Amino acid sequence: MRRNRDADWDAWPVADYLAENYRRLHPCDIGVIHHHAAVYRRYAPGSLARTLELGAGPNLYPLMLAGAASRRIDALEPSAAGIGYLRRQLDEGPDASWQPFYALCRSLDPALPESSTEALRPVRVMPGAVDDLVPGTYDLASMNFVAESVTEDYAEFTALCDAFVHAVRPGGRLLAAFMERMPSYRIGAGPLWPACPVDEAALRAVFAPRTTGLRIARVAKDLTLPEYGDTGILLLTAERPATATGAAAPQG
Ligand SMILES: C[S@@+](CC[C@H](N)C(=O)[O-])C[C@H]1O[C@@H](n2cnc3c(N)ncnc32)[C@H](O)[C@@H]1O
Repeated sequence: MRRNRDADWDAWPVADYLAENYRRLHPCDIGVIHHHAAVYRRYAPGSLARTLELGAGPNLYPLMLAGAASRRIDALEPSAAGIGYLRRQLDEGPDASWQPFYALCRSLDPALPESSTEALRPVRVMPGAVDDLVPGTYDLASMNFVAESVTEDYAEFTALCDAFVHAVRPGGRLLAAFMERMPSYRIGAGPLWPACPVDEAALRAVFAPRTTGLRIARVAKDLTLPEYGDTGILLLTAERPATATGAAAPQG
């Protein structure tokens, strides 16, 4: 069984990953963006002081979506390759291929500014990993294709999700996307990256005891992507309970 530390994340194949997943808007991206935009639309512009994108990698659209609601977006990422790409995108402006993603984000959330560069202005690239999270730091935490895509160990998957939940303050919002039932995978002809296949029941087992208002939606398998062995995408939203135990606050 390969755990998170067994993979060389610094060597994450950014160019191949972008080519396979994000150089054009795929049907599954449209589903994820609709889901996430509906969450961010609930917040007045600038009303979230600090939000997290855990394992941001080279994916800009979750950062763009946060751009209207959040005054500071921490893009936490351990991979030197991912950090390098993110920094270049923020310094020089997003690659043209991100434009259709941003146009969709903005059509769903008119509070976003005209330019994607402007939307990304609150982003701070933070070199680091899940173990660096300080509990209670964020108003909202977002995680896309990370916990299930970085280890074969379910205990480690659970610990990563637990740290994600606790990264937000009590009452804070959680927003996440998971590949459904994806086994360890390759990007291009590269090495095998560790993953643990999860379904809705597995997500409920991890998140239901730790959150309130748990909702899980599904996007159908995207046949325009390479065959990663998944059966679709699971989309999650929930809140960290306002009380420390996770139990409902006593009434009256
Ligand atoms: C499958 S990629 C997903 C990237 C991006 N979030 C997206 O939506 O495409 C997994 C990401 O998790 C990062 N990662 C690996 N181990 C991590 C850890 N322990 N804590 C946080 N991120 C990690 C990797 O460097 C990589 O960027």
